[in-house]
Amino acid sequence: MKIVVAGTGYVGLVAGVCFAEKGHNVTCVDTDKRKVELMEKGISPIYEKDLEELMRKNYAAGRLHYTTDFQKAYKDPDAIFIGVGTPEQPDGSANLSYIATVSRQIAENVERDCLVVVKSTVPVGTNDKVEQFIHDFLVHKEVKIEVASNPEFLAQGSAVHDTLHAARIVIGTESRHAEEMLQKIYEPFQLPVVSVSRRSAEMIKYACNDFLALKISYMNEIANLCELVGANIEDIAKGMSYDERIGANFLKAGIGYGGSCFPKDTKALKFIARQHGYSLKTIEAAVDVNAQQKTRLFYKACDRMITFQNLKVAVLGLAFKPGTDDLREAPSVDNIQLLLEQGANIYAYDPVAEGNSKKKFPEGTNGLGQITYVSSPEAALEGANICFIFTEWKEIKELKAAEYKQRMQTPLVYDGRNIYSPSDMRESGVEYYSIGR
Ligand code: UDX
Repeated sequence: MKIVVAGTGYVGLVAGVCFAEKGHNVTCVDTDKRKVELMEKGISPIYEKDLEELMRKNYAAGRLHYTTDFQKAYKDPDAIFIGVGTPEQPDGSANLSYIATVSRQIAENVERDCLVVVKSTVPVGTNDKVEQFIHDFLVHKEVKIEVASNPEFLAQGSAVHDTLHAARIVIGTESRHAEEMLQKIYEPFQLPVVSVSRRSAEMIKYACNDFLALKISYMNEIANLCELVGANIEDIAKGMSYDERIGANFLKAGIGYGGSCFPKDTKALKFIARQHGYSLKTIEAAVDVNAQQKTRLFYKACDRMITFQNLKVAVLGLAFKPGTDDLREAPSVDNIQLLLEQGANIYAYDPVAEGNSKKKFPEGTNGLGQITYVSSPEAALEGANICFIFTEWKEIKELKAAEYKQRMQTPLVYDGRNIYSPSDMRESGVEYYSIGR
């Protein structure tokens, strides 16, 4: 099938590349000329495992194209997937302006019957509005445009794998024709398909992400309580995981969820509920718990320290999770901000997120504090007075407890990801604090 994908962020680019990998003829549209030129050279604008390899392979095979020329691209494909961003607005609602721009461009350029598929996460009812909007602005009135919802469930760092081996494909359609089209597009993936109405498909996406966020906040609260009652959250998680009704995943306590999806989608669903006069109490609680959890480790350290002023602070890990350079809503950002306000002299290490962090916290003096980026965890620890672990990168997990003792001036470690065994750290002479243990 001839497929066009609008937007080359995580959602759009990964979808486009995977459609090409499964044999479709795909054109990815982005208005950013520089990005298109990079992609044509096989360079991905996002850091994602396996993506560049598949980009190069499918580009060379002639199944994958990139362009800024949306007028031409939207003219005659079988389907157009919209994968542009829906960022959070100050009131928590989703900003649909990118969706609107693409919808209008489609309406003004499409010249044949076409299925428009919304992949971006959008509030319930948006697909209805997109369909109406396209019909309102349609230049070639004889053309039949249908709109379908097809939310994605990929996680950053494993986006290609999650797309090619998804647990299920959710399609939300309002006609047999649209449903059959989407089934045909996904046929080569050989995955289970859940076919529902458009509104239900939109809702499934929020219900999934918000449930996972809730699960994490729940475990973080249980971890906080474990600290007070003298229990160990890891033992609790293990004990829970054998119950198939609970499941073994997403039970890891830590410094709160970050990233582009959970923070945004929890706030968006809270907003949607409020709009309908309903207060979604479980999700509101999950959001509040997460906000507190993100800086709990810092305040725990404040209980121990008189000051951070002029102290050498090692920061290990900046990204919101391993496998990505993404700093959106990353707990490291809130904590670094607080440390700099206290005059800390930070030495930060992250294998890939350094560039993004520099945009927020440029190297050198920052307010009362200072930040220096280093190329290894060992370099960050050298002579440090205190260390914070914010991301469980392999490179950081592989560091032996003894390294902290040997390299730091005062071996004091606050681990937000429970990387180490508290007894190993203690035996190596490290004063060690973690979450829920
Ligand atoms: C998430 C969903 O997993 C994905 O299905 C959806 O499409 C987009 O949002 P992503 O944001 O890439 O994906 O990351 P994920 O791996 O889910 O982690 C999100 C955050 O939760 C990270 O900050 C991670 O550290 C945290 N987390 C995850 C925990 O604190 N504990 C856990 O047990 C799992």
